Amino acid sequence: MNSLAIELNEILKDTAVGRMLSGFGKRIYFPHGIIAQSAEAKKSARTANGTIGMAYSGGKPMLLPALKRCLPDFEDEEIVAYAPTAGNEKVRELWKKLLLQKNPSLNPAHISLPVVTPGITASISYTAELFLDPGQTILSAYPAWDNYALIFEERVGAVMRGVSFFDSAGCLDIPKIREAVQEEARKGSVRVILNFPNNPAGYSPNETEARAIAQCLYEAAESGADVLAICDDAYFGFFYEDDIYKESIFSLLSGLHERVLAVKTDGPTKEDYNWGLRLAMVTIGSKGLQSRHFDALVTKFMGTIRSSVSCSNTLAQSMFLKTCADESTSAQKTVFFDIMKERYNEVKKIVRAHKYHPRLTPMPFNSGYFMSMRCNGIDAGRLRRELLEKYGIGVIAFGGEYIRVAFSAIEKELLPEVFTAIYEAALNIPSSS
Ligand SMILES: Cc1ncc(COP(=O)(O)O)c(C=O)c1O
Repeated sequence: MNSLAIELNEILKDTAVGRMLSGFGKRIYFPHGIIAQSAEAKKSARTANGTIGMAYSGGKPMLLPALKRCLPDFEDEEIVAYAPTAGNEKVRELWKKLLLQKNPSLNPAHISLPVVTPGITASISYTAELFLDPGQTILSAYPAWDNYALIFEERVGAVMRGVSFFDSAGCLDIPKIREAVQEEARKGSVRVILNFPNNPAGYSPNETEARAIAQCLYEAAESGADVLAICDDAYFGFFYEDDIYKESIFSLLSGLHERVLAVKTDGPTKEDYNWGLRLAMVTIGSKGLQSRHFDALVTKFMGTIRSSVSCSNTLAQSMFLKTCADESTSAQKTVFFDIMKERYNEVKKIVRAHKYHPRLTPMPFNSGYFMSMRCNGIDAGRLRRELLEKYGIGVIAFGGEYIRVAFSAIEKELLPEVFTAIYEAALNIPSSS
């Protein structure tokens, strides 16, 4: 093993991180190579800087005029210079500040500086690579975002254990979640991904439920198990009901217990409506970690980033800073939020009116971009095809028994037509039994 990896492992050895790192997580390090030497030169090379593989002229990166014309408001460096491996420092600092504003009970001493990644998918993937070995189990809600299976099972060879998160009353099934956590705890460690607002259901817990989940993980830690809780907050902030717990569950987990390692994966992707810019964050939180531990784990993330995409998109980071500094942003976000909430309310009204539909049962929803329905006695794939072919309506079918509707992408005025078609098609297609 590389001596730099050994050094990092030595720093982390008596922590939950050290105990839960995967084989890859133990091996990975960040070399004192091109990136580190070039960062040093950037500060001190007064005469000439011949370290980095970029082309400079007159002290600026060479920039094609056609590219510059697309982006007149940006400095050349903000467009094409490589970003630091862990991200632009200003972006990292700002995201931390925003996290603390959005989650007032978060203790800054318990969290790291966020690391920039090229999308929340990447944040989850890197975390999976660092903390899951082939054959290890990770708990998740069932149904879950389909990319979790690709990341956890196909990419790192782990086993996803889906827990049906909802009881028949439409609340989080805490006893079932507790049982699954305890079973994993008895094996020595618990790995879980929590996604609220949830994809595909569109559910977020109320405060009692959020605290109950935290309590389950606390009990596991107290029983001697190390706990990794990935908080996938992709849809953070799209909360449409008053009783929803308005902070990320990361707030409850990051200061919970020395054995609990919380990893928050989030970013402006959905929150700030910039899906394709590929900019996200990963932030570590644990009561058991001090700054030297955070630095060591951030270094492991840097090695993971360096060995995959090398660094994240510079322009997306520059754009994020400009967007946040722009006076119009906050008001515009409120306008967009209100549009989303109106759509949610419209869907809620329609779904209530079809409460007793024999073939479609809504999953609980109160937040996010989506709502999903369980198909009773009909094949979800068949329903999807019928909707597409006969009505020209696109929805997602998954698991053979669910359909998901992204109301985020449908005008409010169209929602009655869309749902009328869904309910009608579900009655008209032949039963699967
Ligand atoms: C639950 C969940 N997590 C993460 C992501 C990925 O976000 P990103 O586009 O930033 O990779 C999505 C996107 O659909 C999602 O639904």
